[in-house]
Amino acid sequence: MASDKLADRKPNSGFKPNLLGIFVVFVIVAVAGSVIVYSFSDWTAPETARQMRNPYPPTPKVIGLGMSTYTDRCQNCHGEDGNGKGERAEKLSVAPSNFTDAHAMSQMADGELFWKISEGHRPMPAFKGKLSEEERWQLVDYIRTFSQPLVDSPAESASPAPNKDAAPK
Ligand code: HEC
Repeated sequence: MASDKLADRKPNSGFKPNLLGIFVVFVIVAVAGSVIVYSFSDWTAPETARQMRNPYPPTPKVIGLGMSTYTDRCQNCHGEDGNGKGERAEKLSVAPSNFTDAHAMSQMADGELFWKISEGHRPMPAFKGKLSEEERWQLVDYIRTFSQPLVDSPAESASPAPNKDAAPK
């Protein structure tokens, strides 16, 4: 009888440490997971970055340079029209931002856009080691044109103005 009871208990006593082990692993995974999720979801530019002044006003030349960098580096995700629907967009875990959203864009300071382009946020890569500061500021000016038509140069899509083309330089 006594030996029967012992046999019954053995599997139980062996099982308890396993449960504890599973629980500990679960806690570690849960904590690590939430830290990762938190760090991915937090993409707020620091106040100092927000307040940076854009040293490159959006002249047609700056916009043109920004556009060529955009075509090379950003278009495959953010789309040719800046609507976030580039070729790679569907395969990404997070949808690329839509720069044609005038309301969302107006909420962001130039310094904030510059900071986001510099730092990146998965799956968006960081560009601070890949593009110069000047190139990143030009991009800020360029991506604003998707939601704000330029004041000092007519949009390329607008019908051509023959008078302006004929004007001497
Ligand atoms: C691999 C795809 C990919 C590439 C390439 C890429 N982006 Fe992004 N971008 C994203 C994704 C995805 C987000 C949204 C990230 C998030 O919200 O977590 C994003 C967000 C942004 C934002 C933030 C907008 C906001 O609403 O907060 C800016 C600005 C931006 N990208 C600019 C650029 C520029 C400029 C380039 C080129 C130099 C570029 N991106 C290249 C995928 C990409």
